Amino acid sequence: DSTKRVFSGIQPTGILHLGNYLGAIESWVKLQDKYNMVLYSIVDLHSLTVPQDPTALRQSIFDMTAALLACGINPEKSILFQQSQVSEHTQLSWILTCMVRLPRLQHLHQWKAKAAQQKHDGMMGLLTYPVLQAADVLSYKSTHIPVGEDQVQHMELVQDLAQGFNKKYGHFFPVPQSILTPMKKVKSLRDPSAKMSKSDPDKLATVRITDSPEEIVNKFRKAVTDFTSEVTYDPGSRGGVSNLVAIHAAVTGLSVEEVVHGSVGIDTAHYKQIVADAVIEKFAPIKSEIEKLKMDKDYLEKILRTGSAKAKELAYPVIQEVKKLVGI
Ligand code: ADP
Ligand code: NA
Repeated sequence: DSTKRVFSGIQPTGILHLGNYLGAIESWVKLQDKYNMVLYSIVDLHSLTVPQDPTALRQSIFDMTAALLACGINPEKSILFQQSQVSEHTQLSWILTCMVRLPRLQHLHQWKAKAAQQKHDGMMGLLTYPVLQAADVLSYKSTHIPVGEDQVQHMELVQDLAQGFNKKYGHFFPVPQSILTPMKKVKSLRDPSAKMSKSDPDKLATVRITDSPEEIVNKFRKAVTDFTSEVTYDPGSRGGVSNLVAIHAAVTGLSVEEVVHGSVGIDTAHYKQIVADAVIEKFAPIKSEIEKLKMDKDYLEKILRTGSAKAKELAYPVIQEVKKLVGI
């Protein structure tokens, strides 16, 4: 169906981890074959909402490009591009900013959480970035947005802004809907009540897809489990072991039942080694592809330039129409 357009974005900062891969990127790869028009953006402008080192940020844009390509994002099937190379996003963002009231943004959970972490009053970019997110989506008249649970509130804002615009200027934007792919929530290896996250200060909690086999084995060995040595799946009362089972199932493509059945008679200490090995095996080809791609910066630059040109071709007529509708 050519009227369906999928859009999603990822910030370039931080190396992809098991949670990002199983919870987002793996389904991004599948969506490329399900929809004709798929756009994936490395949203570098969003990264500026928190302090960044310029040299590191520039490098991380290339690293994320390499990682996405290695994971199976295919520039022949989807448009992979760098957000800041398509200036239409910021133009639309301004127009949408002029249509949203301050309390609407101040009431978003993520703003409240992030503003609370900051030493001083919050930065404006951190407050208004959900509007930029709406502009990212609407610049392409996108219809389908794969999102995690943490982004549901921001999706509602996108829908409200699209509807608000349509009400004022006549029907123009499709109201995008979320694609709730079977999101696999990966928990921290050190605290199964928290999600695995890039920003976890406990270096053993998060498995990066570029970790060496030794690092992966060590992280799983130090994973928090409990005093029962049997392998069972019961996220309510055995969060640690159940997280290992869920990861094992996800990386092997087996069901949870199959994994548990196959682990009868194995104690959790031995099981950690089995899960570590399955993760190493899953990520070995991706890891070596990342290393190969990172050596060819010209190629990565070309991918982003080509993708951004394609994205701009789609976004340009949209912003022209929007300008006409608002009277500028
Ligand atoms: P992080 O919290 O590690 O900084 P991001 O917020 O950048 O990760 O998330 C990027 C994508 O990965 C989002 O779609 C998000 O829903 C998904 N994601 C992040 N952490 C996890 C996790 N632990 N399990 C499943 N999906 C996750
Ligand atoms: Na496609």
